[in-house]
Amino acid sequence: MGDLNQERIITAALREEDTDTELSLRPRKLSEYIGQDKVKETISIFIQAALQRGETLDHVLLFGPPGLGKTTLANIISNELGVNIRTTSGPAIERPGDLAAILTNLQQGDVLFIDEVHRLSRTVEEILYPAMEDFSLDIIIGKGPGARSIRIDLPRFTLIGATTRAGLMTTPLRDRFGVISRLDYYRTGDLVTIITRAAQILGVLIDGGGAEEIARRSRGTPRIANRLLKRVRDYAQVKADGEIKRAVADEALEFFEVDPLGLDQADRRVLLAIITKFAGGPVGVETIAAATGEEADTVEDVYEPYLLQLGLLARTPRGRVVTPAAYKHLGVEMPGAKQPTLW
Ligand SMILES: Nc1ncnc2c1ncn2[C@@H]1O[C@H](COP(=O)(O)OP(=O)(O)OP(=O)(O)O)[C@@H](O)[C@H]1O
Ligand SMILES: [Mg+2]
Repeated sequence: MGDLNQERIITAALREEDTDTELSLRPRKLSEYIGQDKVKETISIFIQAALQRGETLDHVLLFGPPGLGKTTLANIISNELGVNIRTTSGPAIERPGDLAAILTNLQQGDVLFIDEVHRLSRTVEEILYPAMEDFSLDIIIGKGPGARSIRIDLPRFTLIGATTRAGLMTTPLRDRFGVISRLDYYRTGDLVTIITRAAQILGVLIDGGGAEEIARRSRGTPRIANRLLKRVRDYAQVKADGEIKRAVADEALEFFEVDPLGLDQADRRVLLAIITKFAGGPVGVETIAAATGEEADTVEDVYEPYLLQLGLLARTPRGRVVTPAAYKHLGVEMPGAKQPTLW
C-alpha cells in the first residue's frame, strides 16, 4: 500500500509538470495534427463546407480513450473555423441554470466544448436538446399555476462533445450530434512523428531509433509518448550524453518499468491481480478495481481498452478474463487444468 501511495504522489507531480508543456506541445492546426487520417479528413471536409456556405459547423462528438487528442482536436476545430471556444465539462455543469448561462453568453458561430459529455446530468441534458436542435432555450418563469414557459433564441453555435465512454451516453444526446468521430490508438509511425516534433519543441536530441523505441512503448497514446519522452530525456541527461538513442531509450524505459508492450506497473498489477486472486477470471470490473486499489472508472477507461486491444484481456458476459497471451507476456505459467475457455 505504501508503494501505491508513493506512486500516486509521483504521478500527481508528473501530471502538474505535464500540463505546462502539454500546452506548448499541443498542435494548433489540422495540418499539425498527426495521424488519425480518417477523422482528420472527415472533419476537414465538414469545416471547409461550413466555411464555404458561411454556416456554423454541425455538432461534433469525439470519442476514444484518454490522451488520444480529443481536447486538442476540439481546439483545432475552433481555430480552423476562426471562432471562439468556450470550454467546460459535464460534471462542472451542475444545474440547468449553469448551462443556460453558458449558452446565452455564446456568440454566433462559437464552439462550446463539453468534455466528459457523458457525465451531464439528465436535467442539464434536457436543456441541451432544444439548444442543439433549434438553437433555443425553454425557460420556466414562476411557480405553480402562474408558471409560464418562455422561449429564448440562441445564437447558432457548434457543440463539440468529448467522451472516453460513448456507451454511457444517452441515445437522445448522441443522436443530436451530426458528426461522430472515433479516435483510435496511434500507429507507431505516427507516434515517432509526434515524438520527433515534441523533441524539437523541447530542444531534446533524439535519433530515429530512440524515437521508435519510445513510440513502441507508448500504448498508442500521444500523451504517454510525450511523457515518456520527457522521462527518457532526464535519464539520458544524467546517465548518458544527453542524446536519446535506441539503447539509452531502451535502458531508461526498462528502468522506469515500462515493458516492451508499453505496459507499466499499474497495467501489470491489473493482469496479475486477475491471475493470482481470481484464477484468471472471469471477474467483474468493480472487483478488479477493489483488488488493485484503483477506481472502477479508471480500470475501464485507462487500463482495460489497451489490454483488450493487445489481446491480453478479453471481455465475456461474466466478466474479464486474462488470455493465454497475457500469461505468456508476464511469464506466468497457466494453470494446466484450466482451459482458456472464455465463458
Ligand atoms: N494528433 C496529435 N498530434 C500531435 N500531438 C498530439 C496529437 N493528439 C494529441 N497530442 C498530444 O497529446 C496530448 C494529449 O492530448 P489531449 O489532451 O487532446 O487528449 P484527450 O483525448 O483530450 O485526453 P483526455 O481524454 O484525457 O481528455 C496533447 O497535449 C498533445 O501534445
Ligand atoms: Mg481532454
